[in-house]
Amino acid sequence: LKTVPPMELGRKYFDLYPEEVNPVWQNPCDDKRHSAIWSKYKTCDRLPRFLVIGPQKTGTTALYAFLSMHPNILSNFPSSKTFEEVQFFNGANYYRGIDWYMEFFPTPSNSSLQYLFEKSATYFDNELVPKRAHALLPRAKIVTILINPARRAYSWYQHMRAHEDAVALNHSFYKVVTATDEAPRSLRELKNRCLNPGKYAVHLEMWLNHYPASQLLILDGDQLRTDPVSTMWKTQKFLKVKPHFDYDSHLRYDPSKGFYCQVMPNGKTKCLGRSKGRHYPPMESDTEKFLSNYYLPYNVELSKLLTKLGQQLPDWLREELRGR
Ligand code: A3P
Repeated sequence: LKTVPPMELGRKYFDLYPEEVNPVWQNPCDDKRHSAIWSKYKTCDRLPRFLVIGPQKTGTTALYAFLSMHPNILSNFPSSKTFEEVQFFNGANYYRGIDWYMEFFPTPSNSSLQYLFEKSATYFDNELVPKRAHALLPRAKIVTILINPARRAYSWYQHMRAHEDAVALNHSFYKVVTATDEAPRSLRELKNRCLNPGKYAVHLEMWLNHYPASQLLILDGDQLRTDPVSTMWKTQKFLKVKPHFDYDSHLRYDPSKGFYCQVMPNGKTKCLGRSKGRHYPPMESDTEKFLSNYYLPYNVELSKLLTKLGQQLPDWLREELRGR
């Protein structure tokens, strides 16, 4: 049997199948032929069993910190670029491959008891992610947190101001969210980052095109903020992680932070950093009205979706739909 050199063969292959230039990493343990040629030093136990997908500014860091307190829940190692988030399934990191991804996780000493997870809040609204995540982690559970999308948008705007983003510093929130198609590109981009993730139903449908509803947990970010013990109870039950960790004695409301924080062995509380739970003026009522109308069709779709999934509507959603 004669064949052309490998590079030439590769070029020919991608000429014939151009759609395959972009890889979609499959789970090596789901196909005997793949696991047979995989290094014996590698194990699929080093892949996460659940993902916290965001969206950004809904309380994802608090959830990440609280989950990591559980004795049998292990988070990823931090990234030098994106800190606690790996951000593998979106953006350029995906092309680094699954070995790169697995390096972020410890090898569990007991893979049936211990749950690896990662939280990347950028996953929620990126249309490539559900397909990629499902190809590699078809049995993973997916956890998302929702708050009022108008509040989420405002929190993102404040986040960008805190990071001294010139566009956010030079334009009011109202100017940002009402920017037209004729506005400068940078303003339109900030508007999109404020508004798009909050179209919750659109993004959830995308996830549900790949994962069954039974693998998806939708948490209420307001409940996580005001009653994290109940939220963590619900999350543990959904994950089926054992033992049941008693968050009641490990989380305490810290009046100076204004949020729940972790109780440390010395009895003091350890709260999230200054960038989480920022102080800023309340949203102006004009902007609130504008966003309430803007999000109405998306919120209607969300309420239909949650009802279809047999889930309770969060209070903020009920309020948004009251009298409409
Ligand atoms: P603000 O800073 O706008 O108040 P994320 O971690 O996804 O970026 O979300 C940040 C938001 O988490 C904060 O937004 C804050 O309201 C919310 N949050 C919920 N529980 C929190 C907690 N225990 N500590 C700090 N922030 C919390």
